[in-house]
Amino acid sequence: MSKKIQKIISKKNRTKIVCLTAYSKSIAKILDKYCDIILVGDSMANVLYGLTNTHKISLTNIIQHSKSVKLGIKKSLMVVDMPKGTYSNKKKAKKNAKLLKKITGCDAVKIESNKKNFNIISELVRSNIPVMGHIGYTPQFNKKFRIEGNSNIEIKKLLKEAIEIQKAGAFSIVLECVASKASKLITEKVEIPTIGIGSSSYCDGQILVTDDMLGLSGFYPKFVKKYVQLNRVIEKAIKKYTKDVKLKKFPTNKNFF
Ligand code: KIV
Repeated sequence: MSKKIQKIISKKNRTKIVCLTAYSKSIAKILDKYCDIILVGDSMANVLYGLTNTHKISLTNIIQHSKSVKLGIKKSLMVVDMPKGTYSNKKKAKKNAKLLKKITGCDAVKIESNKKNFNIISELVRSNIPVMGHIGYTPQFNKKFRIEGNSNIEIKKLLKEAIEIQKAGAFSIVLECVASKASKLITEKVEIPTIGIGSSSYCDGQILVTDDMLGLSGFYPKFVKKYVQLNRVIEKAIKKYTKDVKLKKFPTNKNFF
């Protein structure tokens, strides 16, 4: 296991793990100063490509953005989402994860759980590819958004899934929209860090889609806290530029040769 991965695991029960998503060098460079983990998420489907779900993001899309993100990272752990359909069997998963690691230089891959693909995780881990699991709401497999872990039966199922993922060798697990009682129990019972999104402060770390928390994506469910309304800041600047061009205030002789 790499030192970087060991460092993330060692934060459990000591200090909260800070994670955000990035799809480009410029954002990754800023995040890298503060984040423990930077995820090149397939949420780029919604955020960048305007798609209604994550299903159409290809390995080529993920590779292109990951190469850009890698250029902005000096210290954080870089995790890359494996797109839907790229890990549907052991052979495929191994080939694609190896390719992702080789071309992008990422530290780990994330795969969503379909409640039975634990053997894929163990195959990748055996091949020296660190894996982050993902349970609860899994956009690649769930058709409809829903909070998971609201009943005792669901809590039991989620805990079993998290334990299987740990046994398969994952170094951490994203809990997406898992009810707080369930996320607390899972966090207490598993030895690897849990990273929550909409899953309570009991998780060992937190992740958000960066464009959501910056107020850029237009997608603001309850679990998103908007730290700034960057859409307004950008619009103000564009408006000013437009006015300057029209009034011939830009460019001035300071701006040309
Ligand atoms: O694709 C993504 O950005 C994610 C996070 C929301 C965890 O999977």
